Order: sequence, then C-alpha cells, then structure tokens
Amino acid sequence: MGIYQAAGAANLSLKNYLAHPRIYQGFQEAAGFFGARIKAIDAYLPLKGNEKVLDIGCGPGFIVQELPEGCSYVGFDPSPDYIRYANEHFGNRGEFVLGFFDEKAANTYAPVDVVMLNGVLHHMTDAEADEVARLADIVLRPGGRLFTLDGCFVDGQNPVAKRLLSNDRGKFVRRQVGYEALLKPHFSKLEAYIDHRFSWVPYTFISMVGHKR
Ligand SMILES: C[S@@+](CC[C@H](N)C(=O)[O-])C[C@H]1O[C@@H](n2cnc3c(N)ncnc32)[C@H](O)[C@@H]1O
Repeated sequence: MGIYQAAGAANLSLKNYLAHPRIYQGFQEAAGFFGARIKAIDAYLPLKGNEKVLDIGCGPGFIVQELPEGCSYVGFDPSPDYIRYANEHFGNRGEFVLGFFDEKAANTYAPVDVVMLNGVLHHMTDAEADEVARLADIVLRPGGRLFTLDGCFVDGQNPVAKRLLSNDRGKFVRRQVGYEALLKPHFSKLEAYIDHRFSWVPYTFISMVGHKR
C-alpha cells in the first residue's frame, strides 16, 4: 500500500470511528474544536441565563453542559447513537430528539430565543440549509438569534486547515460568501466572523449570527 493509499484508508477509518459518540467528542476536545465552539458562542452569541435554546444537529449533546444554568435546551439529531448517548448522559439537562428538525417540530417548539447549528451547515446541501434557515425563522421569537459555526475555506489558508476541511465528513464546506448566501435570504441582519485561532490545530472557523427582527 502506498503512502497516499495508507493515508486515505486511515482517514476513512477515522470517519467511521467518529460515528461513535465518545470517540467523536474525544477528537473534538483533543483538537480544540469543542473549545472553539465555546469560544465562538462566548464571543458572538453570548447566552443570557434564561434563554430557550434549540440545537439542530446536536450530536452527542456535550454542549448542553456549557450553557448557563437557567437556559432550557432541546437538541435534534438524525444519528440514533448520538441521541442515545445524549439522553443517557445529559437527559437531566435537556431534551434530545431523534430525527430531522421539520415544520411540525418548528411549530411544536416555537418560540425559542436561540437556534444553534454547531458544525452542521457544512453537512447540508444548499437546499437543506435553505429549508433549515426557513424553519429557524419560524421557530425563533422576534429578536431571536440563529448561531452557526463551521469550517471555512479562505485564500492563503494554512495547508493543515485546508487538508482537514477537504477531508471533513461534511461534504459541503464552503467559503464565507457561500455560507452567507444560505442565510441572507432569511435574515435581514447577518453577522459573519472568520477566526483562525480558536483551536490549537490549524483551522479556519466561520461563525454567523442571524437576527430575527
Ligand atoms: C460535526 S457534527 C456536530 C455535532 C454537534 N453539533 C457538535 O457541535 O459537536 C454534525 C452533526 O450534524 C448532524 N447532521 C447531519 N446532517 C444533518 C441534517 N441534515 N440535519 C440535522 N442534523 C444533521 C450529524 O448527525 C452530526 O451529529
């Protein structure tokens, strides 16, 4: 097996292992990507103590531990393994629902103060992202916020970051303009921030905050 085939095989098996909740979270923490979520939320979203948070694509649910005590939380994810893990470990801190977030769920859980998509837009096609942004607009109360965090391609990027992004499990890593185009039609006020220093592993993050008027 040549070096590129070996690297490809290692990458494939890492992707398989990441489907396991504890291994996924261990990888996120070791690389500093979980810390990056906390830094981005603190910098651009800051949560107040009593807000109602909806987390679409919540994964194994570790983020619920980082929210202010008084926040209520509901997470949705289509992975049975992630949702089982979240319910077993964090079911006392929030509600974890198996499945895709749809219009019925938007009407059931409205109104919320914050919708989070942590590391999720880059798993979505343009059409899926457009639909989730439409649903976020339905479920948010006036003045509510949509927060997103993803990896992002930029010019002159660190080669390690570029390589990681090119091999991500999510097949739709975009440039800033591509991410913004997903949300602009749904939010009259949209902020976007690029950060290169949120993790110790070289990586480029884009955080976006859409404000519902
Ligand atoms: C990179 S993980 C992020 C998990 C978690 N939000 C975090 O911060 O660790 C991406 C998550 O999005 C979920 N996902 C993928 N496609 C999705 C979709 N179309 N709708 C909702 N969630 C999706 C996956 O099951 C996975 O848990």
